[in-house]
Parts: sequence; C-alpha cells; structure tokens
Amino acid sequence: MSSDAPDRLDAGACQDPLLDVSGVVAGYGATEVLHDVSLCVGEGEVVSLVGRNGAGKTTTLRSVVGNVTPSAGTVSFRGEDVTGLSAEETVRKGVAFVPEERRVFPGLTVEENLRVGHLGGGATDDRPDPDEVLEEFENLREHPDRLGGALSGGEQQMLAIGRALVAGADLLLLDEPTEGLAPFVVRRVEELVADLNDGGISVLLVEQNVEVALELADRHYVLDRGEIVYHGTSDQLRDDEDVMDRHLGITK
Ligand SMILES: Nc1ncnc2c1ncn2[C@@H]1O[C@H](COP(=O)(O)OP(=O)(O)OP(=O)(O)O)[C@@H](O)[C@H]1O
Ligand SMILES: [Mg+2]
Repeated sequence: MSSDAPDRLDAGACQDPLLDVSGVVAGYGATEVLHDVSLCVGEGEVVSLVGRNGAGKTTTLRSVVGNVTPSAGTVSFRGEDVTGLSAEETVRKGVAFVPEERRVFPGLTVEENLRVGHLGGGATDDRPDPDEVLEEFENLREHPDRLGGALSGGEQQMLAIGRALVAGADLLLLDEPTEGLAPFVVRRVEELVADLNDGGISVLLVEQNVEVALELADRHYVLDRGEIVYHGTSDQLRDDEDVMDRHLGITK
C-alpha cells in the first residue's frame, strides 16, 4: 500500500466527532510547525498520533488545549468551536492534557495532588470525587499520604492521569505516557488507559512507542514534519511496512 493515497486521509473522518481538529496551522513565533493538521476522535475511541521526534505531536496537543493558538484551522469539541480558548477554559469543557513532564506537585501528597486537580476542573457537578478516582489506582490508594516527589516515574504518570480525571475530563490527551518507564510499568499504564476507556473516557494518545499505540488505539494518525501523512486502523498500520519504515523508522 502506498502511504500517500489521498483516500487514506478521507478515511480519517469521524461521524459526529467528540474532538475535531480541522486544517490546523500552528507554531512558535515565525516558525510554522503544523502545516495543515486534521484529525478526529469519536466518542469512546482511543486514537493515536505517532511520529518521529520533532514531528509536531506535542504541538498538536498544545493546539487542542490552547497552549498554542492556531493561526488557521479550527478545533471543535462536542461540536463547539474551542479554537484559541485558554487552557483553563478547555479543561472546563472536559478536555484534559497530561503533558510529557507528568506535572505532579512534588511537595503535596497523592491525595492533595488529586484535590488540587479537582479544584482546577470544570464548574459542573459531574466531576468524580478524588476518593473515587483513587480507588481505581491500585498502587496509589494504599499510600495516599506519600509525597508526589517520592513516587516512581510510573506512579507519577498515573497520578498525573488521576489529576486529569478528577478535573472531570471526558477526553484525555496523553503525551508519551510510557516514556522512560520499565516494561512492566508500561503494561500497568496500558491497563489503566484501557480501563479508563472502558469506563467511557475517550483518549488521544501521543506515543513514540508504536507497539503501545497499536495495542491501545483503534485508529492511528502518523504525523511527519507537521503533516498527517497516514491514517489507518491497527491492522492497516501494522501491515504497512512502507509507513512504518519511512515515517516511523521501524524496519521489520
Ligand atoms: N516552545 C517552543 N519554541 C520553539 N520551537 C518549539 C517549541 N516547542 C517545540 N518546538 C519545535 O517544534 C517542532 C515540533 O516539536 P514538538 O515538540 O511538537 O514535536 P514532537 O513530535 O512532540 O517531538 P518529540 O517526539 O521529541 O516529543 C520541533 O522542531 C521543535 O523544535
Ligand atoms: Mg513531544
């Protein structure tokens, strides 16, 4: 299969999407990083965005949550235009971004970290209670008084995801959640994301680890130098040696 067949991109359309990114152009100062990025996440889906270092994956997530303002194109959530809203406003709409740096407050306990996330969330009453969320995190709930800074990388990742949940997220944007984690911890993060998705949370997952993306997501977008160059299901991507090699640097 050729990676530049135009109908492949048409297959990336969603009916009635939860998140719809359409023709986004964005960058930093005079440097344009995203040239024309379109992707969508349907309600209940896990969708991955994969690509090499510097392709613009983080910039795409930042454009969705308003940390970067697109110079063209639109971002819609539940059919509402949210392009250019501030990060605080997008969180209130139900979109939560868990950045690569896994920001947890090192001097606050696990429980306090979750309470702070709860306060920062939407104004609606459907935000889960921090105690309820903690129940889902087997390894964190046993020691709710541990300091954020004393947690392992995997535990910090889970706490960062927990903070997004208590803010009332319906859509989680995860930026390389398994980066730097040992393989058995990667499994636990995968299980957590799968469980959350079973519970109704939709996910846009950025991964360098294509195996994790193939395992977790139903559909995939490949980003290369600020452009979506491919879209497909897990089976399609797994079998497409050309895309795997050319855009992801994976040779079978
Ligand atoms: N704050 C910034 N100011 C200026 N340029 C930036 C900034 N952040 C990223 N860039 C540039 O934008 C381009 C895309 O970066 P981005 O972080 O979106 O890529 P990425 O796909 O997430 O890469 P990685 O896999 O390394 O995380 C890169 O060339 C990067 O150097
Ligand atoms: Mg990145």
